[in-house]
Amino acid sequence: MSEQILPGQPHIAYHGNQLHVEQVRLSDLARQYGTPLFVYSSAAMLSALAAYQRGFSGRNAQVCYAMKANSSLAILQLFARAGCGFDIVSGGELERVLAAGGQADKVIFSGVGKTRSEMQRALAAGIACFNVESQAELEVLNQVALAMGRQAPVSIRVNPDVDAQTHPYISTGLKDNKFGIAHEQTLATYQRASSMPGLKVVGIDCHIGSQITQEAPYLDAMDRVLDLVGAIEAAGISLTHIDFGGGLGINYNGDTPPAADALWSKLLAKLDARGYGQRQIMIEPGRSLVGNAGVCLTEVLYLKPGPLKNFCIVDAAMNDLPRPAMYEAFHQIVPLSPRGGKSQVWDVVGPVCESGDWLGRERALDLATGDLVALLSAGAYCMSMASNYNSRGRAAEVLVNGEQSYLIRQRETVADQMRHEQLVG
Ligand code: LLP
Repeated sequence: MSEQILPGQPHIAYHGNQLHVEQVRLSDLARQYGTPLFVYSSAAMLSALAAYQRGFSGRNAQVCYAMKANSSLAILQLFARAGCGFDIVSGGELERVLAAGGQADKVIFSGVGKTRSEMQRALAAGIACFNVESQAELEVLNQVALAMGRQAPVSIRVNPDVDAQTHPYISTGLKDNKFGIAHEQTLATYQRASSMPGLKVVGIDCHIGSQITQEAPYLDAMDRVLDLVGAIEAAGISLTHIDFGGGLGINYNGDTPPAADALWSKLLAKLDARGYGQRQIMIEPGRSLVGNAGVCLTEVLYLKPGPLKNFCIVDAAMNDLPRPAMYEAFHQIVPLSPRGGKSQVWDVVGPVCESGDWLGRERALDLATGDLVALLSAGAYCMSMASNYNSRGRAAEVLVNGEQSYLIRQRETVADQMRHEQLVG
């Protein structure tokens, strides 16, 4: 049986004429569970994690999966069992970690707008660190901790002002982004934090953006962060860990990001050269752990050739996979069972009533009504950003492990959607 692995997706391959995730035939899953359907490869997620673990071998390091990329419970469970901690940005994410069997003491809490009640819950649960993003947040966290008779462990997220050379919506380390404390205010902020009785300074944090495909921005950011570590410690404030964020890109369309282990061997060389090699390292990767482990299966509903464009209308839409509409992002689209005939050029669009509801533009595909296609690289920021727009239920999800497949989320019903609403009178 011939095997054809798709570029950048080693666990997604054609066996014969049928697309598989690991050993499971995707058309069987589509038939069993319906479409749109997300399918994830456990092996792909674990091998992405292993690349980081190889890079950190012999070091004191903790991978905290940035679960905003995909927060489905079974995926959190997989990473928790593999030793991961979690980077969270809301109280809801903390409850998901705990429900999936994750450890609170491996959780770090990022984000510019933590509420008092979220702080209280995270302190009570005993998380590892709050990544604080402003002076005002420091003051509130100090008050909350004192009222509970606790000390909150904190890092300050610094904004190293480097250009991550990515889409402007997902760049976070520039001066005009809302994230982090400006480089020049960092030392004063650390001094203020270390004088607050409700806080215990434990680290420093940065995150410069997402879908970063070059190593230069990382190397620059590391230099700047280490300069700050030197200045903070010279002022008598010691830092136990350095959190270097996430952001490593994946291959969507021929992108060639550095491999996690290769990138980290260069970054660790910088730490070694400056005498910080034994410091605890934390990282917050999201997309690079799950992005290329997932596909979204969808059925061709109608073909609508036209004078200017040919439209292929499928049953997945911008509510399932919002990245093209939001960022003009590219996801490869491939048939589950190629027909081998002549391709035509199609705009692949969903049923939602918006011109922005497109999934792929000008794709050469040989399609017929009823065919099944897969949108690739759909493991990150698809299901976690899905909505009920147009009162569409969110898709079902399946996790594959070898020859086994597990339904990890049922398709949302209309009753599920209306559960919290009521009529007046
Ligand atoms: N840490 C922090 C503080 C973050 O803000 C993020 C992502 C991460 C870690 C994880 O970054 P990653 O390794 O996944 O690149 N919805 C967008 C991406 C938004 C990323 C926001 N922050 C997309 O679909 O491309």
